[in-house]
Formats: sequence, structure tokens, C-alpha cells
Amino acid sequence: MNKSLVVNNKIYIETYGCQMNVADSETVAGIMDLNDYEIALTIDGADVIIINTCSVRENAEKKIWNRLDFIKSIKRKNKNIVVGIIGCMAQRIGVKMLEHPVVDFVAGPDAYRDLPELINNSYLNKKYCNTDFNIKETYSGITQKKQSNEDISGFIAITRGCDNFCSYCIVPYTRGRERSADYNDIISEVKKLKQNNFKELTLLGQNVNSYYFEDNKNKVNFPSLIEMVAITAPEIRIRFTTSHPKDLSDELIDVIARNKNICNHIHLPVQSGSNKILERMNRKYTREWYLNRINVIKSKIPDIGLSSDIFCGFSGETEDDFQQTLNLMEDVCYDMAYMFKYSERPGTFAAKSLCDDVPEDVKKERLNRMIHLQNKISLKKNKADIGKTFEVLVEGFSKRSDNMLFGRTEQNKVVVFPCLNKKRGDTVMVKIKEASSATLKGDIINS
Ligand code: SAH
Ligand code: SF4
Ligand code: F3S
Repeated sequence: MNKSLVVNNKIYIETYGCQMNVADSETVAGIMDLNDYEIALTIDGADVIIINTCSVRENAEKKIWNRLDFIKSIKRKNKNIVVGIIGCMAQRIGVKMLEHPVVDFVAGPDAYRDLPELINNSYLNKKYCNTDFNIKETYSGITQKKQSNEDISGFIAITRGCDNFCSYCIVPYTRGRERSADYNDIISEVKKLKQNNFKELTLLGQNVNSYYFEDNKNKVNFPSLIEMVAITAPEIRIRFTTSHPKDLSDELIDVIARNKNICNHIHLPVQSGSNKILERMNRKYTREWYLNRINVIKSKIPDIGLSSDIFCGFSGETEDDFQQTLNLMEDVCYDMAYMFKYSERPGTFAAKSLCDDVPEDVKKERLNRMIHLQNKISLKKNKADIGKTFEVLVEGFSKRSDNMLFGRTEQNKVVVFPCLNKKRGDTVMVKIKEASSATLKGDIINS
């Protein structure tokens, strides 16, 4: 029997994984909006549930399987609900995901324009999977739709895909080859965000530094793109992520230094501090190259906020290699780091050719030591901010108290402070008086 075609057209999109997936969910919401769907803010009452998935580590995929088991209970109550899997795990596993009893359709990251068709087919009880790559797809012409009207922060994907093939990483296989969006489209998106009173925007790509777009008028690289964006919207805070250390140029550092509204924060994933491991990872830079980038950044932008991605337990990592990672973390003094243990991903070069030879208990123990060290470094860096005053963009009420607000400095540090009638979207000056490893606390001044 066919599912009922009489539905309320309410769609709920759930997002896992990185900021690129958050941006993609907004693109999907934009596509569905054009097709007369209404975006539901909760799963209750939705006719269509879309899960935007991540494959980066095994645990990311486990989370999705568990979620699907939960959705089984929702579907038992309402058989007309359509469930779709999109994103990186959809791409990696493909048509086999349709074998799960709740899954009605599967779409990879280049197939989102096909979603209305896939949903219609689900109502006819036809289960389809579209995981075709499309090297031209940048979702040009689709306006992203925010899931709430109160948004102050927007994302623009300036590149999609990745050509770097770090040996451990699944992303080049799930996202396909790298392509850059037309800078004219990017600038018109920026103008839209400006009109809608956005206060912050983040330019996204797996490696934003390799952005390049050429037409008959201009040749635009990343430093010139971000400067164009900064000049187009001088009242908006501009952020960007991720930067690959091999491509982070002096030209970019100069552009950040001279444009006031480009935030003084660089997320520069190092992954490991050992040259032997960096080579096995195919990262294409050395520890010395990386530290030189950091030194140039610090000398040109003294109040820079620095963060990183680091993981331990990669193939061949000895205690000595790991010590070199800890040592680099101390040298750089990151404000913040995302830390992981290596998770082998099927199909990658590492899975095919390098042995996953660090035992699980050693990985866990190294990860704990790494986290412990970073907490100490973050605390030291945050304490150094006591007495300083920062411009803070207010994001909302603090989790712990309705009398306190929280926001971020341009270095991307979270600050908590008393309300004083301020609200989400306001910019305030806050003087820091207390610090923990995760947060700064202070008071608004001159308001
Ligand atoms: N394009 C970005 C982000 C990639 S995924 C970049 O190049 O930095 C985010 C982070 O996940 C990576 O930086 C890396 O630290 C981690 N990661 C990727 N693959 C992993 C794996 N197989 N096991 C553990 N961590 C991994
Ligand atoms: Fe993965 Fe490396 Fe590409 Fe980042 S740069 S997405 S870590 S392959
Ligand atoms: Fe995950 Fe894909 Fe992002 S694997 S980290 S959602 S690019």
C-alpha cells in the first residue's frame, strides 16, 4: 500500500558532523522551501525526517545507527513518515543504507537538488539512492534557509570537496573533488546576510586556503576573496575555517592583520607534532614548517586566537612521536584544540596500506594525557586575559543562569557576563576578571 500523499509538508532536518554539514542542512532547507515544504523546529509532527550524517570516525556513524533505532519507534506510530539519510555516511555506505527498515531514501552531498524527487518517490513506496558526484555542484542560486528567525550568524561554503587525501581521512571519498564557488555568488550571499542584519559570517571549506575562481574579469584567491567579503560587509565579523597549514600564505596573514572585521582567530589543524607521522598522514608539511607559520602569525597578529585539531594513535605512532605532539602543543600554546584518537576508515590509504598498530588502551591513555595538557595550556592562556577588555558578540543567555549572557571574543573564546539589558546580536565591551580552562568571566564596561 502506498503511503498517504496527503501530508502537511513539514520537514525536520537533523544535523551531525562539521560546520559544512550545518551549512548544507541550511541549503537543503532552502531547496525544500522552494518546494513548498515548511521547516519544522522539532521532530514531533514532521512528515519528513532528514538526517545529515558524518563519517569522519567510527563513533560518528555509530551515533547515526542508534538514532535510526530510535526513529523506528516514531515510525511505528506513524507509518506515513518518510526518513532520508543524507551527508557523508549516506555517500560512504550508499544504497546499503536502504536495507535499514526506517530508511526511505539516501542522498550524497552533491545530490541535494534531487531531494524533492526522492521524497515524492518515497510516498510511492519507491526507495532510491542518489550518490552521484557532480564536480560542478556548488548549490549556486540556492538561498540557505535558517532554522530560526533569530539567527545572527551565517555560513557560506566557498569550496566543496577535498583533494588533499590525508591518508587517514574519509572526507575526499565522501565529498568528492574540490571545487570553488563563483565569487560573485559568494558576494551576493554576503549582501543578503548584511540586509538581514547578520552580525557574523563564516567562510567554509575543507581547506579554504586553496579557494580559486577565475572569470574573464578577475582571478580570485582566498586572501583576495576574504578581503572582498570584509570590505562588502564592514559591520559583520568574518570568520573562516579550515586552513590547511601547507597553504596558509603570508598574504592571508597580512589580510587578516589589516582588516578590522576579520576575526583574529585561526583554526590551523596540526594533527601531529612528529615529522615521521606527518609524512605517514600525507599532510605535506613538517613540524618546522608548521611552527614557522605559527611564528609569522604571532608576529604579525599578536592578539591572535589559535586552535587546532590533533589526534593520537595513528599508524606507527611511538611514545616518542606522541611526546613530540605534546611538545608542539606546549610550544604553540593553543587557546583551544579538538582532540581525537585515530579511527581507521574503510577505503582510505591508511586502511589499505598502513597497519592500525597502536592498541586501543594506548590510544585512550594518550588521548587523556593530551586533553589534560591542553586543559592546562587553555587555563594558562585564559588567565593571561584577566584584566584585558574584549569586544564580545552576545549569543544568548548562559546555560547556568538567566541573569547572565554569553558571547565570543574575536579570538573565539566564550565569555560569560551579567545581562545589563543586552541581548543576542548586541556587541559589548567586556573586561575579564575570572578565567577557567573553558570560559572567561567579566563585566560589561562603557555601555
Ligand atoms: N578539513 C578539515 C577537517 C577534517 S575532519 C581539516 O583538514 O582540518 C576534522 C578532523 O577530524 C581532522 O582535522 C582530524 O583531526 C580528525 N580526523 C579526520 N579523520 C580522522 C580519523 N580517521 N580518525 C581520527 N580523527 C580523524
Ligand atoms: Fe581530510 Fe585532509 Fe581533506 Fe582535511 S585536508 S578534509 S583532513 S583529507
Ligand atoms: Fe563529517 Fe563529512 Fe564533515 S565526514 S566532518 S560531515 S565533511
